[in-house]
Amino acid sequence: TPTDVKRICCIGAGYVGGPTMAMIAAKCPDIRVDVCDINQPRIDAWNSDELPVYEPGLDEVVAGARGKNLFFTTAVEESIAAADLIFVSVGTPTKSYGIGAGRAADLCYIESAARMIAENANGPKIIVEKSTIPVRTAEAIRTILAANSENGQFQVLSNPEFLAEGTAVEDLEAPDRILIGGERTPEGDAAVESLVRVYANWVPRERILTTNLWSSELSKLVANAFLAQRISSINAISALCEETGADVDEVARAIGSDSRIGPKFLKASVGFGGSCFQKDILNLVYLCDHFGLPEVAKYWNSVVTMNDWQKERFSTRIVKTLFNTVRGKRIGVLGFAFKKDTNDTRESAAIYVCRDLLLEGANIALYDPKVPVSTIRADLNYVGISDEVIDKQLTICDSAVEATKAAHGVAVLTEWDEFKTLDFDTIYDNMFKPAFVFDGRNILPHDELRAKGFEVYAIGKG
Ligand code: UDX
Ligand code: UDX
Ligand code: ADP
Repeated sequence: TPTDVKRICCIGAGYVGGPTMAMIAAKCPDIRVDVCDINQPRIDAWNSDELPVYEPGLDEVVAGARGKNLFFTTAVEESIAAADLIFVSVGTPTKSYGIGAGRAADLCYIESAARMIAENANGPKIIVEKSTIPVRTAEAIRTILAANSENGQFQVLSNPEFLAEGTAVEDLEAPDRILIGGERTPEGDAAVESLVRVYANWVPRERILTTNLWSSELSKLVANAFLAQRISSINAISALCEETGADVDEVARAIGSDSRIGPKFLKASVGFGGSCFQKDILNLVYLCDHFGLPEVAKYWNSVVTMNDWQKERFSTRIVKTLFNTVRGKRIGVLGFAFKKDTNDTRESAAIYVCRDLLLEGANIALYDPKVPVSTIRADLNYVGISDEVIDKQLTICDSAVEATKAAHGVAVLTEWDEFKTLDFDTIYDNMFKPAFVFDGRNILPHDELRAKGFEVYAIGKG
């Protein structure tokens, strides 16, 4: 029989665990939700007015439930012991060493979470994997649990999260679907039903899909691979548009009107970023290779190859346009986050474009409304830019207009709304002439800018 869930514990208070648990707590006042993390500063931030994750509307959701039925804590052991249902929402970064380096997911956090559960559970529990992870992770969790406790005590479910950053609250409030995978046994079905009932507090039942464990795990990777593939496809076409004089936005509209293709996720850009797309595709590629399917692996890998090329193509375009040298020239960079309305920069195209420009000797004046300086520095360090180069060539600015002062070129790398309505007259007056603009998101009013005298390069516009 299904468990009547009264207490939930979530291991991992990151971009996924934090917002998701806040929404569950807000929608299920009868369930107590503990969100745990080993990172004390992160927990302190969740308990403060300055949440560690910036998401529109999240402050209100957290404020409404925190201290009532939503708690952020480092007391993982106690929370595990008290919970009926435990979400595992720890990070699964790409492995940086050893077998599968650069492609396979590093499951060390999953493993440590599973061991913690085994040590502290004192009765039957439903374990729900919420992190994005390659197929067969549930199996790993189950094996660790089985080897460290009585048999039959644990049911492991897969419940991938499909929220997108920047719209997390909307996505959690009204998801396209909830996906729950479980073992096709009476005990597995009962565990699935227990979790279905939690979501049914606010999600219509017909939107809650249940599948076997492997379908659920694989679907998460495949959904992200398909979404990323659309972006690489339109970005590939953007290069062709630039050569032929077609306009990629017009092409996107024309093809998107075919209901079989659909209009969403066809925005050409400087390249996709975010913690999921590249990581999940590389996982898929690794799995395909592992299972002896090199053609399938190659097919999906090309989505990443195309994305790398698109980023590189953009920085090359800047250098070429500025008469083949940006050495000592100031370039205003607008946006560093991987998309608007988030402070997250993981795999942001901006990291790679800035790296390339710094290596070409450019001076970068950078403005992003949400990303902290420390993050920008750490991201650039990570891709091999030394502190010395950063100190010498990078200036962080407090406004977009400041970042464009005395610049030879301005590059838009994130589609923040405020960039659409800047004071372009002032910007033009302050820039070197010709005043070059490189719109990596196609959000600026290009005709208006050209009328003011700017030289505009836009993605996919011949
Ligand atoms: C993605 C999936 O959308 C989400 O379902 C999954 O749970 C996690 O991964 P996220 O990475 O947060 O979400 O953001 P998303 O909106 O998908 O954008 C990813 C990247 O693609 C961003 O860099 C964005 O700028 C870029 N993008 C998106 C485009 O370049 N063009 C588009 O048309 C759409
Ligand atoms: C296609 C386009 O759909 C149409 O818009 C264009 O004008 C001409 O080319 P058509 O080739 O007549 O039309 O048929 P379509 O229904 O697109 O099917 C093409 C092939 O894809 C068929 O062999 C079909 O069996 C196959 N297919 C289609 C699949 O294997 N899976 C699918 O999900 C859809
Ligand atoms: P995601 O985007 O998947 O949410 P994050 O990196 O933002 O990933 O969050 C994962 C969180 O999980 C981090 O805050 C990390 O400290 C936490 N974490 C990792 N391992 C454990 C563990 N064994 N117990 C508790 N928290 C953990």
